[in-house]
Amino acid sequence: MQRWLVAAALAGATCGAQAQGQVNVICSVQAEWCNTMATVYSKTTGVKVNITQKGSGEALAQLNAEKANPKTDLWFGGTGDTHLQAAEMGLTLEYKSPLLKDLYPWAVRQAEDAKFRTVGVYLGPLGFGFNNELLAKKKASAPTSWADLLKPEFKGEIQMANPASSGTAYTVIATLVQIMGEDKAFDYLRALNKNISTYTRSGTAPVKAVARGETMVSISFVHDVTTEAVQGFPVGSSTPSEGTGAEIGSMSIVKFGPNTDNAKKFYEWALTPGGQQFGLAAKQFQLPSNKHVPKDPRVVDPAKIKLINYDYAKYGASAERRRLISKWEKDVQDAR
Ligand code: F6P
Repeated sequence: MQRWLVAAALAGATCGAQAQGQVNVICSVQAEWCNTMATVYSKTTGVKVNITQKGSGEALAQLNAEKANPKTDLWFGGTGDTHLQAAEMGLTLEYKSPLLKDLYPWAVRQAEDAKFRTVGVYLGPLGFGFNNELLAKKKASAPTSWADLLKPEFKGEIQMANPASSGTAYTVIATLVQIMGEDKAFDYLRALNKNISTYTRSGTAPVKAVARGETMVSISFVHDVTTEAVQGFPVGSSTPSEGTGAEIGSMSIVKFGPNTDNAKKFYEWALTPGGQQFGLAAKQFQLPSNKHVPKDPRVVDPAKIKLINYDYAKYGASAERRRLISKWEKDVQDAR
């Protein structure tokens, strides 16, 4: 169900908003970040920001469903594979920001791979979240490799998301295929199935379950584990020793949206250091794509972990993404 949140809370901002129009945003990062951006942007510009929150795969499905009569103007955040697919499907607008020169190469490459129908806004590596108290109770060691997740002590104790709705989970599958080769990756996923208690809809649900002590381990983006840790939950994170993938969280302007001019303005703002600081302000720890955003020690330095040379163009192609997800549904999910 759609949930439109009108962000301009103050009377003054609301009056301004009426004068300046609005922008309809599908937001695929956590609600705190979406709402902070919407509130600040509304107050400072007078443009009303209507936020609908959706996971990456669900956002793509909505934009495709709206294709004949788009209601959305801009899609902020979510894993880059789904934005590349939206670009390939002709759902998003070609737009070259003058700020591209201020972005890290990985963010620019994402734009180039999509023929400038998307752009990178943050980077985040994949890893594991774990509940230290539950591990201690079971006298289990924290997992530090993909192989560790198959250990018997984790039977029924691991959560990950469903790749059809979650970009996090699709990144897991594409990462494993790149590390192990497709046949071995699917053997691994079938073996892992035995230790998974549930495949959640949203990519952040597993680490929230870890934080609440409902499950011992999650397969998550590391920054989402940090968000729980800074709130005082007894969680830790690791990245797998065999290597891991990272998402390039992206942003795209919807083609033929009702407020394209306002979408372009929001897009430009969201690429500035000023616009990008609101991730951290909302306790979100992805690496921002603008090189001039001040560094924070809680944000993972990609140079310090074993990142694979992830082929974003290949695994963001429509046919490949659809093929791998339906193979996972048939060979892994249906085998439960
Ligand atoms: O906001 C948290 C986050 O992990 C983003 O970094 C990421 O792009 C998004 O959620 C993925 O969500 P989902 O897996 O539900 O598509």
